[in-house]
Amino acid sequence: MDRKHWRLAVAPMLDWTDRHCRYFLRLISRHTLLYTEMVTTGALIHGNRDRFLRFDPAEHPVALQLGGSDPKDMARCAHMGADWGYDEININVGCPSDRVQNGRFGACLMAEPGVVADCVAAMKDAVSVPVTVKCRIGIDDRDSYGELVDFIGAQTAVGCDAVILHARKAWLKGLSPKENRDIPPLRYDIVLRLRRDFPDLCLAINGGIKTLEQAAGFLDDLDGVMIGREAYQNPWMLAQADRVIFGDDHPIATRQEVLERFMPYAERQLAAGVPLSAMSRHLLGLFQGQPGAKAWRRRISENAHRPGAGVDIIAPPVPLAPRQASPLAS
Ligand SMILES: Cc1cc2nc3c(=O)[nH]c(=O)nc-3n(C[C@H](O)[C@H](O)[C@H](O)COP(=O)(O)O)c2cc1C
Repeated sequence: MDRKHWRLAVAPMLDWTDRHCRYFLRLISRHTLLYTEMVTTGALIHGNRDRFLRFDPAEHPVALQLGGSDPKDMARCAHMGADWGYDEININVGCPSDRVQNGRFGACLMAEPGVVADCVAAMKDAVSVPVTVKCRIGIDDRDSYGELVDFIGAQTAVGCDAVILHARKAWLKGLSPKENRDIPPLRYDIVLRLRRDFPDLCLAINGGIKTLEQAAGFLDDLDGVMIGREAYQNPWMLAQADRVIFGDDHPIATRQEVLERFMPYAERQLAAGVPLSAMSRHLLGLFQGQPGAKAWRRRISENAHRPGAGVDIIAPPVPLAPRQASPLAS
């Protein structure tokens, strides 16, 4: 696959980047790569596949993130993902939650480069779409540069198509997943050093990136940038992504137009039984700082959860009329 695919991505985020969120973000940027929430192999093998894998064709390019460590299961689930039409299959080697550690996947796999490489190899045998790894720069006291090089080397040796590196280590004991996204310091320098040691690897950076200008700066040295929280909380930051990052000058929709295009989708989902609140929660950052935004958010949070809530509730904010001169003023 063309390396351009990885230039900018929105990160996998559990509970956040579901299919409704991705549909919405796609209305803001045509080219930014979107990742699913992490789906475990257990959920796909034993659970409701349709619920975890269904997506709208408009979401392309879209990557499925898997959590697991058994090569056979990972290959089976990668195959399912490719069959459903995902453009890439990614392995989560970055999540530090206890639940994930008990399942022996996520960040604890940084200590087992061979296990991850066996998964990558089995998945590559099973699918023709790219197989990628999202990982940390280290875990606990296993955070030497040499260990990171060994981990990445093991993945490249079996043909891993790209590595997305969250530029901070994870503390597996004592910090919550949320704290693990802020407390260990970001080390962009390590990612850039890795670039020099793996010049042919398709390498993307993640962690703390808040603007497209910052992203574009990294693209001088790296192949891709992945943005998590900022893209969710302030989705309009992606509005210029097609132009600035992908060199596509198509006209950019306004915030209102984006929302108006989301509404027919929301209608269809409502008709299929999806509650409005399951979609509207992803929209709340759209009008950040704009006139009427507060009242619009209030309208949504007070009404979207009510039974029978319809799409009129998410209709764009009505900007406040320009303040009239007081009739009493002389
Ligand atoms: C609510 C939330 C859920 C997350 N879930 C996942 C996940 O399912 N898989 C994963 O690899 N990372 C997950 N992450 C981590 C992000 O993908 C990303 O690595 C992290 O937020 C750092 O990037 P940022 O500083 O741009 O947010 C999650 C982050 C958040 C905020």
